[in-house]
Amino acid sequence: MKTRVVDSFRRSFGFSPDILVRSPGRANIIGEHTDYLGGLCLPMAINLALYIAASKCHSTSGEERTSDAVHISSSLYPDRPLEIIEANHRGSYSRLSSLIAGLNDAGFRFPAVNIEIAGDLPAGAGLSSSAAFTAGVLTALDALFNWQIDVEEKIGLCLKSEHRAGTPCGLMDPSAVFYGQKGKAVFLDCFSGESEAVNIETDAYKWLIINSGVVRDLSDGRYSNVRTRMVEAYAALKALDSRIEHPRYLDFAAYVSGRSSIPEEHLPYLDHYYLENERVKTFIGAIGMSNIIQAGNLLFDSQQSLANNLHTNIEVTDWIVERLGGSERCAGARVTGAGFGGTVLSLVESPCAEELGQAIARDGSTKFGLEMQFWAVVPDAGIGVVEF
Ligand code: GLA
Repeated sequence: MKTRVVDSFRRSFGFSPDILVRSPGRANIIGEHTDYLGGLCLPMAINLALYIAASKCHSTSGEERTSDAVHISSSLYPDRPLEIIEANHRGSYSRLSSLIAGLNDAGFRFPAVNIEIAGDLPAGAGLSSSAAFTAGVLTALDALFNWQIDVEEKIGLCLKSEHRAGTPCGLMDPSAVFYGQKGKAVFLDCFSGESEAVNIETDAYKWLIINSGVVRDLSDGRYSNVRTRMVEAYAALKALDSRIEHPRYLDFAAYVSGRSSIPEEHLPYLDHYYLENERVKTFIGAIGMSNIIQAGNLLFDSQQSLANNLHTNIEVTDWIVERLGGSERCAGARVTGAGFGGTVLSLVESPCAEELGQAIARDGSTKFGLEMQFWAVVPDAGIGVVEF
């Protein structure tokens, strides 16, 4: 993959790149639709990634802009020509133009750069290709111009560029991309922003992920609707008790005892939020004790809550979870990421993982007329400049 992206860069721009960045996707293990309310989540960076080859712009052609512009080409979009993206660019690469605008706002200006992007991380699959893209370009610019932006600021810049591009997401995706480590998941407290590496390697089980082939776009309104309902539910909770300055200030026991006073329409959202945070903590305990049965059941519970309380599930992913659940070899499964399509993550006994993934992807593709894909992924390193 590294050679491929470097070769494509040479073909697109006629010279070799100065640097290459590997930017991984993420699979969220548990803790879904909690991050934007300051909750807990447990994503891992995975071994599917984007590669970003970059250099300062060597082209001297008079019509090209000389500052704050990214000349971008990507083998991921073979139908698109090389494009020049600037802060006010409309249309394609909206997250990139938002990133450039955010960098300019923060005082970072730069001469034009050339960038080539490729990789094996599918887009629109709930594996955070958009955070991998934004974080990857930012890391490339940071390395090229030696800005030395610290990680927290980088995460903030990535988040702002998503928000500016119309996706009101939380801290989880860029944090997983930056803090990922081999063999570990990232236990993230989205209230304090603190993170901790959690060992999740299990010899006996593999992380099997199956991409449903139903592509989703977080800016299509469904994700922000769920978020709006969650925020409204929190506002209703706060209205009952002015001491609650933030949902996380109310612990689980206090929530349970006050639950009966909360208006009915908000209950599913608050039940999901408080129980899902508890599930994250319990999951970490279970995996630490190698109690895979309990850990797997928590994945199923999370899936149930997303289906019954938040309605983020669709028929195709429900079918995949059911098929996985029907196998004695699978300890647990759930949709990872925002939902509305995308990818199912599961814990499957190692010797059976590939075979099970293959059978489900084959049958599902035929049944729904979709192109399902599967991978046995491992928790992998976070973003970084790599040798080539
Ligand atoms: C998307 C967002 C994340 C998070 C998840 C749901 O992946 O980008 O910030 O809100 O949905 O858990």
